[in-house]
Amino acid sequence: MAETITIIDDRTGKKVTVPVTDGVFNSSALRELDPDLRMYDPAFLSTAACASSITYLDGDAGILRYRGYPIEQLAEKSTFLEVAYLLLNGDLPTSDELASWQFDVTHHTMVHENMRKRFVDGFHYDAHPMGMFISAIAALGTFYDDAKDIFDADHYDKQVMRLVAKVPTVAAMCHRFSQGLPFVYPSNSLGYAENFLNMMFRIADDYRVDPVLARAMEILFILHADHEQNCGTTAMRVVSSSHADPYTATAAAASALYGPLHGGANEAVVRMLTEIGDVANVPDFIKAVKAGEGRLMGFGHRVYKNFDPRATIIKKTAYDVFEVTGKNPLLDIALKLEEVALSDDYFASRKLYPNVDFYSGLIYQALGFPVDTFTVLFAIPRTVGWLAHMKELLADKDQKISRPRQWYTGSGERTYVDIAKR
Ligand code: CMC
Repeated sequence: MAETITIIDDRTGKKVTVPVTDGVFNSSALRELDPDLRMYDPAFLSTAACASSITYLDGDAGILRYRGYPIEQLAEKSTFLEVAYLLLNGDLPTSDELASWQFDVTHHTMVHENMRKRFVDGFHYDAHPMGMFISAIAALGTFYDDAKDIFDADHYDKQVMRLVAKVPTVAAMCHRFSQGLPFVYPSNSLGYAENFLNMMFRIADDYRVDPVLARAMEILFILHADHEQNCGTTAMRVVSSSHADPYTATAAAASALYGPLHGGANEAVVRMLTEIGDVANVPDFIKAVKAGEGRLMGFGHRVYKNFDPRATIIKKTAYDVFEVTGKNPLLDIALKLEEVALSDDYFASRKLYPNVDFYSGLIYQALGFPVDTFTVLFAIPRTVGWLAHMKELLADKDQKISRPRQWYTGSGERTYVDIAKR
């Protein structure tokens, strides 16, 4: 069978034949038929806006790989900073490369005092941590006069290292502010996830992060580090395509992540489970979802039409965490919801399975995170993925400023009518 596709314009009889590679054809060939022809593809259901070698996803088979490595192997064997290096640089680091990357990140975790005293302290006491995080990341860029030198590889890499190092500090700072607690400075003697948990929760001098919980946090960070062209990453690429600095672009990507259909779903899941309140209420809740009264949050995915492999790993991690913290009382409701939904034709026929957010919120809650910090916990590791995509985009000769076309459906020309005559 020919690996080509032929498109015929029946209006003119012109035709064009283009190669199909990996199921993709270059749609710019359509311009040969008619330079004004446009493809209408709302929400990009059939559009590949870039070529990327970062993350491979097979939604039907439930496969996720970073730079070719299965997510299951990385979650079991790797650390978050090693995975970050892999995503940003393309290959796993040698031990020297890893040691140097870890050292650099660890020694750039502090943020300027004015970020806290003048910026974060300006928020209202009950500001949502995600709103604070987004604004703080954009503000952070104003402290670095080399932030805009995105085509200088050394300067770009420096911003990447600063952002990876400082996002946990900013996140913890926002949380401590909203709790009225004193800020805990980063510690150079702790690992990435351990340091984050320490900055979040340290109150007493003898506070020690439990290694099982630190490892669970590390696994959650690994699982959330990248997921190819989702809404947040697309926002990152679109903003980066105008050559904005990485801080501003990261803030834009985090804004896209904030919505309940995207990274906000982990927060929405726990709110949903709390509202259901009891296993006995699950059937009625499912009935309401099927009647169109809301969605089953944490279920469904644009690409996965099978189990989300991240959800499987998270479910297992949840049990490890509950061994230390005690079971989250919402777990039974979640398990019942999963059981009822998976055996219901409404969900089966639409291929709706638990996604990454279905169980992650239960772990976050067991670890002691307030519900409104959950999306920030997604944004911390995803910052790595966003920055890897920005780097890839800036080096891609096929890319230009993002500027989709539209299908204008508004009024034809009209003559202005004076306000007194309307
Ligand atoms: N509960 C009930 N019905 C659903 C759900 C759900 N969670 N998700 C999709 N559907 C139905 C939807 O009503 C539609 O039915 P019909 O064909 O009868 O109109 C069908 O399934 C297809 O839905 P869609 O909205 O066209 O699918 P999509 O690919 O545009 O949306 C999604 C993907 C993730 C936004 C959606 O599944 C959803 O809203 N899920 C709940 C929110 C959620 O958990 N989001 C986290 C996604 S994973 C983490 C991340 O990447 O951010």
